[in-house]
Amino acid sequence: MHLTSLEEKMLAGEEGYAAQKSMQILTALGEIFGADKMIPIASVQVAGVSYYNLGDAGLEYLENLAGKGAKARVKTTLNPAGMDLENWRELGIDEEFARKQERVIQAFVKMGVTPSCTCTPYLVGNEPGRGEHIAWSESSAVTYANSILGAMTNREGGPSALAAAITGRTPCYGMHIEENRKPQVHVKVDANLATVPDFGALGYAVGKKIGPKIPLFEGIEGAHVEQLKSLCASIATYGGTALFHTHDATYQQKESPAETLTITRADIEGALRALNDETAEVDFVALGCPHCTLDEIKKIADLLEGRRVTREFWICTARQTMKEAEKIGYAQKIRTAGAKFACDTCMAVAPLKGRFNVLATDSAKACYYGRGTNDFKTRIGSVEECVNAAVTGKWS
Ligand code: F3S
Repeated sequence: MHLTSLEEKMLAGEEGYAAQKSMQILTALGEIFGADKMIPIASVQVAGVSYYNLGDAGLEYLENLAGKGAKARVKTTLNPAGMDLENWRELGIDEEFARKQERVIQAFVKMGVTPSCTCTPYLVGNEPGRGEHIAWSESSAVTYANSILGAMTNREGGPSALAAAITGRTPCYGMHIEENRKPQVHVKVDANLATVPDFGALGYAVGKKIGPKIPLFEGIEGAHVEQLKSLCASIATYGGTALFHTHDATYQQKESPAETLTITRADIEGALRALNDETAEVDFVALGCPHCTLDEIKKIADLLEGRRVTREFWICTARQTMKEAEKIGYAQKIRTAGAKFACDTCMAVAPLKGRFNVLATDSAKACYYGRGTNDFKTRIGSVEECVNAAVTGKWS
C-alpha cells in the first residue's frame, strides 16, 4: 500500500504511540481488503460506546489510548452510550454501571471526541456532504450517509473508526470507490408505504431477500427523513448493505441493474407479522431507533396530551434534539404524561436484559436487538399504537 510521508511517520511511531497503533490497525485492514492507499476523511462516528458492550477490557483499551496522548485529528462524534449521561438514575441504571460508563465517555473526551452520543449525527451537526469521504461505524448512520447524503463510508468497527479519528485517514476500499457503489438489484416497490414501521418492514423484506447487495429503489420517492432513517436502520440490520440508491437521492444515471425484485403489500405485511410476537401485554415502550427527530417528538407530545402512561416509556433521542423540544414545550408535555427521555442512549445499548418482557416500538431494528440482545418479545406498530400501549399496557 502506498503511504504518504506523514502516514509513514505515524507507522514508525514518530507521531506518538496512539497514531502508530492506529496506523497499524488501518494498514492491516487495508491489506486485508486490497486498498492501495489511505484517504483523508472529513469526519468520524465511533460506535462501541456503551459500557454494556465494551466491558472492562474495552474501557481499559480506551483509557490506555487516551492516557498515551491519543487525539482525534478530524471531527469525531459518538454513537449512543449505555445510559442517559445526566438522567441515568431515572432510567433505572445502577451506580456501578454509571461510573464505568462515565469513565468511557471521559476517555473519549480526553481524545478530543464530541460526546454527542447519537446514532443520528446527521440531524445534529455532523452532516457530511455529497462525495465526502468519512469513517462512520453506526450501521444505520452509515447507510443514511451513503444512501441519502451521498457521502462515502464503509461500515467501520469501533476500533477502526477510532483509528481513523486519530490518524484522520481510512484505507481506500469498498464504499470509498465509485465503481463499488453501483446498484445491483432494481427493487420496485409496488406498495403504498405510509408509516415508519412500513419502511422498517421494507428494509426487513428487501434485506432478507438480497442480503448485502446494493438496491436501487423505485417507488419510494419523496419519503421523509423519519421513514428513510427507519429504512436505513432496517436494511442494514436485516440485509447488511451499507448503501442503497433512490432516484431522488443518490442515483441520477439512467441504466438499471438487470436483477429485479418486486415488493408488494403482502411482503410488507409478512415482514410486520414476522416482527410481531403474539402477546397482548406490553411492559416497555421505546421510540427513537434511530434517534427521534424533533417532528417525531412533537407527534409523541401531541398524542400524550391529557393522558398518563402506565408502562415504562422511553423516547430515545440526541440530547441536542431533546433540548430543542424543551424550548418549544414538547418535552414538558411528554414528562407530564410520565414518559421519559432517554438521551445519549437507546433501548438496544442500555443494560435492559431481565427488566422487561415485551417491547413495543415503531422500529424494525429495535425489534432485532430487543429479541437478540435482551430476549424481549416485540410488538411493532405506528407511534399511535405505541403511545396507546404505553397508556393501557395492552397491544390492540
Ligand atoms: Fe440507534 Fe440504538 Fe437503534 S444506536 S439505530 S437507537 S439500536
